[in-house]
This record gives sequence, C-alpha cells and structure tokens, in this order.
Amino acid sequence: MRFDIVTLFPELFPGFLSGSLLGAARAAGLIEVSVTDIRDHASGIHRQVDDRPFGGGPGMLLMPGPVVECVEAVQRCDPRPGQVILLSPGGRRLDQELVESLARRERLVLVCGRYEGFDARIAPALDAEEFSIGDYVLSGGEVAAMVIIDAVSRLVPGVIGDAESARQDSFSGADRLVEGPQYTRPREFRGLPVPEILLSGDHARIATWRHEQAREATRRRAECSPNTR
Ligand code: ADE
Repeated sequence: MRFDIVTLFPELFPGFLSGSLLGAARAAGLIEVSVTDIRDHASGIHRQVDDRPFGGGPGMLLMPGPVVECVEAVQRCDPRPGQVILLSPGGRRLDQELVESLARRERLVLVCGRYEGFDARIAPALDAEEFSIGDYVLSGGEVAAMVIIDAVSRLVPGVIGDAESARQDSFSGADRLVEGPQYTRPREFRGLPVPEILLSGDHARIATWRHEQAREATRRRAECSPNTR
C-alpha cells in the first residue's frame, strides 16, 4: 500500500510516520509513504497557494492551479494510479466500513485542506472523493490524513502481527459491534473484581458473555451518540 500526502505543512508528518506500528510497517516495506509540499508547485515570487473567495466571504481558499498540478506530479511518481481523497469537514464521514474499502486500494493520495477549504473545481479536476473524519472543524486536513493512514494501515496484511486481533477490533465483525470490557491483572483493583466468568476457563461461555457485553456496549453507545449505529 502506498500513501501520498499532499500538504502545505510537511513538517507535521515525520514523527507520526516513524513511530510505533507505522514506523515498523514502513521499515518492513509493507507500506510506503511520501509527503509533498503544495507550495513547491506554486508559481510567482510569492508562491501563492490561496486567494479570496469570489462573491465575498471570510477567509481564503486553496487555489486550483497549485493543488491540481501538485497532485498530477505526485501521480507521475509511481505507475499505480492513486485514488485521490480531499480531506474536508464536508466530505463523506469515515467509518470502519469505508476504511476497509480504502484498504483494498493499492495507492491513496491524501490532499490536506487548509484555510476555508478547496476551490470547488479541484475535486472534479482530480476525480477526487471528499472525506471527513467527523463532524467538527480542524485547522487543516493533516490530522485527518494521519487518521486515515493509521486506520487503513492496520488492515494491510502483516502490519498487525496478530491478524485475529484486527478481526476482533471494535466495528470489525459483520455486526459492527464495539468491544465490551476487557480486564488484565490484578484480579481485584481498588475493590473492583474481574468478572468471575473470565476466570472460569470455560471458553464457550466466555465467548457468549463477551458477545452479550459487546451488544450492550454498542446499545449504550448508540443511546449517548445518536449519529452512530
Ligand atoms: N479538515 C478540517 N476539518 C476536517 C475534518 N473534520 N475532516 C477532514 N478534514 C478536515
């Protein structure tokens, strides 16, 4: 899987890309990530990338020229055509199902918005989809790009040592339940005991209990966050 990040703030990425699971996955050649600065594709002495919206309104918009030319140059760096994704709060909301479909692509080009957003001609010019990581506004798409890279990389074969652990993650089964409570040592902490059944050694009953707990956790979550399933 290859990710190309297109951004005005490339300096935000090295720490994120080199730590933990992603650092190891890159070192093992399981995923490849390249970061490109949009400003390198801007023209003029000021290398302008943004301008005021026609018709008035607050803030500045990313101009189509530098963004589209930058993405076209990035596409030429690798023979696999990348699916272009614009990160913006108005895009399709990300969930695990969408993450799974992204993980089936071989290359994603993630374009990070800044300021008040993208000129509306950028998406059709690049045949791009727009994705949001949630109904709130970030200062830019960089954190959203990191979220997508993290969530998609976990599903690339070999990135998580134990494939079974990814299959058991919240939202991953056919019924998309969140995980119920889990416990480790000690058996009792500040008067709070580990449920007896988990110590019973009866794997069939434990599996049934866990499934019930997951359904209950999913139901409670839906009650306090009505936008979720
Ligand atoms: N840019 C600003 N806010 C965003 C969001 N919620 N998701 C994706 N990109 C964004």
